[in-house]
Amino acid sequence: MTLPIRIAPSILAADFAKLGQEVKDVTEAGADWIHLDVMDGHFVPNISYGPDVIKALRPHTAAFFDCHLMITPADPYLEAFAKAGCDGITVHAESGPHLHRSLQTIRNLGKKVGVTLNPATPLSVIENVLDDIDLILIMSVNPGFGGQKFIPAMVEKIRAAKAMIGTRPIELEVDGGITPDTIGAATAAGANVFVAGSAVFQGNSVESYRGRIDRLRTAATRSAGSRD
Ligand code: DX5
Ligand code: ZN
Repeated sequence: MTLPIRIAPSILAADFAKLGQEVKDVTEAGADWIHLDVMDGHFVPNISYGPDVIKALRPHTAAFFDCHLMITPADPYLEAFAKAGCDGITVHAESGPHLHRSLQTIRNLGKKVGVTLNPATPLSVIENVLDDIDLILIMSVNPGFGGQKFIPAMVEKIRAAKAMIGTRPIELEVDGGITPDTIGAATAAGANVFVAGSAVFQGNSVESYRGRIDRLRTAATRSAGSRD
């Protein structure tokens, strides 16, 4: 199953003093999805924003809100993120003892269901939930901060995840250190959704964002042709 290449700018790297405008600008610049990094200072060593900020951003774009929860526990907050206007909600497999329950809860809230793994977590932890998810997010950095370097060993993990997905219509997303230099290897290995924070939010204008998104998309599209 070939799913489209999607570029998902993470607003973690945007100007927090004008987030509404940033979301509008990056949408106009060609973003397919908006990636929303929620951090609690507990599951990860950083704090970002929560459902009220997402709710305030919702009227500023029609783009898919791709919510990445780096919080534990996640279950008590899933409804709040759904009500805030997230279109997809992704939980970490490491964030609680009952992954299947979290995924079911997201499904019952009517949202796209995602699961993500830290770099050190093996893919085997999701082999029994493949029929319950719409998206797998492979973390290519340790979550918590933007601007880190892509971990090269994650290319093989993406390849293995793609094989595990088989013919299921599951989006394969990669997050962390994505630049025009790293996106090609991730695409060739099978990823189709690319989170990019610091590679997009530079220059502070629609034109700058458009150029950066175009460069990522061009590099990904070129490598998509060399997939196995
Ligand atoms: C890391 C976040 C990422 C991060 C990506 O915890 O999940 O989404 O914002 O930032 P860059 O693209 O700068 O590595
Ligand atoms: Zn993220």
